[in-house]
Amino acid sequence: MTHLFYRSLAKDPINISSAEGIRLTTRDGQTIIDSCGGACVANLGYRHPRIRAAMKETADSVAWVSSATFITDPAEALADHLASLEPRLPRVILQSGGTDAVELALKLAYQWHCERGEPQRVHYISRRQSYHGHSLFTLALSGQYDRREMYKPILPQTTFVSDCNAYRGKLPGESDDAYGTRLAQELEDTIQKLGPDRVAAFLVEPVTGSTAGAMPPVEGYLRKVHEICVRHGVLLIFDEVMSGLGRVGRNFTHEDSGMCPDMVTLGKGLAAGYQPISAIMISDRIHQTIASGSARLVHAQTHMYQAFASRVALEVQRTIVDDGLVAAADRKGQLLRAMLGDALGAHDHVGDIRGMGLFLGVEIVKDRDTKATLSGTDASKFSARIKDVALENGLLTYPAAGTIDGVSGNHVLFAPPFVATDADLGEIVDRFVRSLSQTLSDPGIAALFASQPAADARRPLATTQ
Ligand SMILES: Cc1ncc(COP(=O)(O)O)c(C=O)c1O
Repeated sequence: MTHLFYRSLAKDPINISSAEGIRLTTRDGQTIIDSCGGACVANLGYRHPRIRAAMKETADSVAWVSSATFITDPAEALADHLASLEPRLPRVILQSGGTDAVELALKLAYQWHCERGEPQRVHYISRRQSYHGHSLFTLALSGQYDRREMYKPILPQTTFVSDCNAYRGKLPGESDDAYGTRLAQELEDTIQKLGPDRVAAFLVEPVTGSTAGAMPPVEGYLRKVHEICVRHGVLLIFDEVMSGLGRVGRNFTHEDSGMCPDMVTLGKGLAAGYQPISAIMISDRIHQTIASGSARLVHAQTHMYQAFASRVALEVQRTIVDDGLVAAADRKGQLLRAMLGDALGAHDHVGDIRGMGLFLGVEIVKDRDTKATLSGTDASKFSARIKDVALENGLLTYPAAGTIDGVSGNHVLFAPPFVATDADLGEIVDRFVRSLSQTLSDPGIAALFASQPAADARRPLATTQ
């Protein structure tokens, strides 16, 4: 009998006894290849020698001090490193998890407006298909149906605009530029409706990960929404908890886009699973206003700037630089995408293969021509089944349902560790293709693909929730 309260009470998790590189070994001796870094976390794979050595060495140092009074060199060095990656965001706050970082970015936006004499800026806008965290505020700004629906009565009210989805959102014959302009106009209209002087921030997951399956922005979109935010004094926050620090083949999605947001949140890959740590990178103008105003962060969290976690994250990030792993993620991403394209590009039930860097999504459809999909509980059954079948084939996958609007659609996310070899990528594709074919020939699943959608109570998110 376990005393742990598992995430699923219907099915016990698999006990892992060891792991090395991109392979996990269960207590029963089965080897499982990780095609998704767990959840886009294990960017260096498991038991990396350099990180193990750094952890052993750091064990002799101070692990934690109270940030109300103290700071440590590892926290300073990690902030220096992050600021060197994006000098336009030179101020760094260190927290524990992705949710902590996003929640604090939202609070900091409001503090900034208050210090500038605009406490009426109480509205937050995000994009429908996104996931920003598990706290009530971050969940209120997320489109993750399964995780938010029960809590709807107690979620703060927020406003949604469309996400940028070139595969489904573009009108026939519409260029990327025209599509980006149309989405930007929707943001403009939404801000006008709420009152331009009443909006605090626009929160964006620039490459939408778990909810949309690695959906990248169209060329020009980020610049267009940035211009609107600047015009209305709305802070623009990019949530790069999943996509940041190399995953998309560059450190930040906005690199080369000709703009920079006011804040970027980072998490998962920061210490690559070796420690729980997250960060917010902040522009100087936000820092300056607070420095010359209240001169304090109206926020406290016990594990902020944690010394041990900072030292481990720094070693992870130095390893990524020294081993050229951002460029490697870009190259391996292109290779994995080509392999998936060769194997599945013409598959009857694969509608789209997309992504950026080593962050790719395969969208599963009922019909390639109409782009019809499974919906509601049918979609959930498919993603649960393919995950199980892949595990039987020794492959950890990251499938999800609700790809289009939180209710309809399916995708599988690929985000292998940056250290995966070309041969590993080939093995991932082989095992996935086999698992997809076995899943689709499962009679229960085949029946779902052949039938009309069952009536389902789930409804996509409205504009204001
Ligand atoms: C984009 C994004 N933001 C925030 C979070 C929340 O991070 P955490 O689960 O570490 O709190 C996640 C987690 O999946 C995420 O993908």
